[in-house]
Amino acid sequence: MAKKLFIKTYGCQMNAYDSARMADVLAPLGFAAAASAEEADLVILNTCHIRERAAEKVYSELGRLKALKAARRAEGGDLLLAVAGCVAQAEGAEIMRRQPAVDIIVGPQSYHRLPELVARAAAARGVLATAFEVERKFDALPQAERAQGPARFLTIQEGCDRFCSFCVVPYTRGAEYSRPAAAIEAEARRLVAGGAVEITLLGQNVNGYHGAAPAGAGSWGLARLLVQLAEIEGLARLRYTTSHPREMDAALIAAHGENAKLMPFLHLPVQSGSDRVLAAMNRRHGVDDYRRIVAQLRKVRPDIALSSDFIVGFPGEREADFAATLALVREIGFAQAYSFKYSPRPGTPAAERADQLPEETKVERLARLQALIARQQRAFNEQSVGRRVQVLLERPGGRPGQLAGRSPHMQVVNLEAEDHLLGTIVEVEITHAHAVSLRGRRVGASPSLHQPQPLIEEARISA
Ligand code: 5AD
Ligand code: SF4
Repeated sequence: MAKKLFIKTYGCQMNAYDSARMADVLAPLGFAAAASAEEADLVILNTCHIRERAAEKVYSELGRLKALKAARRAEGGDLLLAVAGCVAQAEGAEIMRRQPAVDIIVGPQSYHRLPELVARAAAARGVLATAFEVERKFDALPQAERAQGPARFLTIQEGCDRFCSFCVVPYTRGAEYSRPAAAIEAEARRLVAGGAVEITLLGQNVNGYHGAAPAGAGSWGLARLLVQLAEIEGLARLRYTTSHPREMDAALIAAHGENAKLMPFLHLPVQSGSDRVLAAMNRRHGVDDYRRIVAQLRKVRPDIALSSDFIVGFPGEREADFAATLALVREIGFAQAYSFKYSPRPGTPAAERADQLPEETKVERLARLQALIARQQRAFNEQSVGRRVQVLLERPGGRPGQLAGRSPHMQVVNLEAEDHLLGTIVEVEITHAHAVSLRGRRVGASPSLHQPQPLIEEARISA
């Protein structure tokens, strides 16, 4: 009888990509997708450790699954529970202690071992695999061709050597590793053959990519890799995330003006607008470096839209530092941005500092920053009204009869469109702007998959 697998994914896009690969690797064992944990024989929680709240969610979910497992056993059945991802990597033994119902702990570098771990867990309970192995999981994970929509992710780089003082990633994902360019190109071609129109290249420090070039000819940076991928016919759009300002080299900045398939949107986290805080964060760049990069990007691609991550309430952050963050946000003008209260992560240098800020200060600063970002995002969206944009239709829209997709600038656009247009790029006139999405109507001729993306006039925002 077919077994069923349910994967619940937390956190970043890297985890979403990994979850799809875990499903692929378990398919040969007869595991098909379940719609919920209630229907599954194996539940995998693919977890996130980036902030405390993300990690705590896992324990409450495990409490719920433990009850489900007990009920299953009372009926003579069973349910296998696995914890994957960065919580598994960072506190595997702790999970086993806090929640003995867990059968498998598997860190991000060991997913290719899942079939073996599942088989062993089915026999004897409690298996832990969080070693950083030399054999890379990418080579060992098969690629299933499944209909997953036209906008796909492709992991090209994993791990981080930067050690920002607040961040667990260098500990949970390990040292930086860049996949060879040929393997990436082969995977991209498979994705396009399977219907991908847009590919987002993923990596924790993606613009630090330096993978082996084909045929042993040295190594390639991200800009060169993007040139290669842009040659794939049928692929219309390329994006990459998440970047570090220190890795925005001249070639990559130039690529934003030269590579027609590279979309005019960049998520480039700055974290803070204060040099003092950036130094304490061990970011190893200043606010002026960020300004300069943005100016260079806007020079080569005037309509580029920017996004960032911000941390408020970093230890020792003064009101003046926070005011500098607000000022930088006003100055740059972001199309969207994520902001978080600083969360001390065990084992990171910032967590050891004595000058932690009170929760009230963090809450209050976060609210002020988020209000400003929300105003900017709305202002950016309002500038789109009356314009024509190319939208890649990815999924059903907010209302019946609607499809939704993204503009070149990453805005979500809802419009009336028939289902057969899914996976195509259509031209849309934007009629309404909302806080986090746009609405529009189709204009122009029937779509083709290979339409070039027109350059849209400058879209700077002020708030
Ligand atoms: N506390 C709060 N936010 C954090 N981030 C990373 N670590 C922490 C932390 N300890 C944020 C950063 C990063 C994003 C993915 O999560 O802004 O860019
Ligand atoms: Fe974490 Fe990003 Fe800094 Fe690496 S560059 S340590 S992933 S915040």
